[in-house]
Amino acid sequence: MNAQKNIMAKRYLGSTAIEIAEGIYWVGFYDKLSGLHCNPYLIVDGDEAVVIDSGSRPDFPIIMMKILQTGIAPAAINALIYQHYDPDLCGNVANFEDIIDRKDLIIISDGRNNMFIRHYSISSNLVSLHAINHCFMFSSGRELRFFNTPYAHSAGSFVTFDTKTGVLFTSDLFGSFGATWDVFQNLSPECRKCVTYTQCPEGRTYCPLPDILRFHKEIMPSGLALQYAIEQIEKIPATILAPQHGSVFSNQDDIAFLCSVLKSLKNVGIDGVIALHQDCQTHVSNPKMPGPVM
Ligand SMILES: [Fe+2]
Ligand SMILES: [Fe+2]
Repeated sequence: MNAQKNIMAKRYLGSTAIEIAEGIYWVGFYDKLSGLHCNPYLIVDGDEAVVIDSGSRPDFPIIMMKILQTGIAPAAINALIYQHYDPDLCGNVANFEDIIDRKDLIIISDGRNNMFIRHYSISSNLVSLHAINHCFMFSSGRELRFFNTPYAHSAGSFVTFDTKTGVLFTSDLFGSFGATWDVFQNLSPECRKCVTYTQCPEGRTYCPLPDILRFHKEIMPSGLALQYAIEQIEKIPATILAPQHGSVFSNQDDIAFLCSVLKSLKNVGIDGVIALHQDCQTHVSNPKMPGPVM
């Protein structure tokens, strides 16, 4: 039991909420054990607040504690935004509803997500992007705009752009696996020339790129879906990328480089499965040919 407690304590060790742009807080934690930690975000505008991809059920206490650290009362939250319907970002929706305790709380997502999100036992009004013209407006006039990124990775996946700060919340896009992690990540000019990402020319002990690329190969359904999503994102004047996994990127050259690498990534999702199958068949019919690369 003590060992279990120690594990939990280590898992929940971390910083306080971190302001990544004016009024926008990362309210996640460093989930060292899972190798895939989640990034919920809080947007505060005057006496109103919105939470984006609030997280999983077991993570609820630490996420709410970090929200409270910002000085925001739960009842100030008037909308919850879920950029798709996976449990790692929606699992605690019922906990949020309970603590916010507002009859006018709305849950915003794409209609194709809402038919799944309702199964998290929600009681609030589920609002589709279509119904609000892909835009949420705070009382101040500040707008959050929503852009669909279909099949990256769910049919109803979308990203959220804060027009005030330029922060783009990208959900699983630009996410990463990896136990080596920081809230912010910077690449260097050398990264843009690197070919293998295995031996860092600058002597860094950890290169974030293999984990980012592996994440997209495993989570996105196909190269076509990923390419289309990145093309939609390139049209948005984002200054900061805030993904639901991995790190925040704020360097414009890094953002352009990541878009370029992800747009041309090979063997994404089903593409990789088919390529491996074809390699296997080639090897079986002609054993002299090199075997498939696993
Ligand atoms: Fe997901
Ligand atoms: Fe996710």
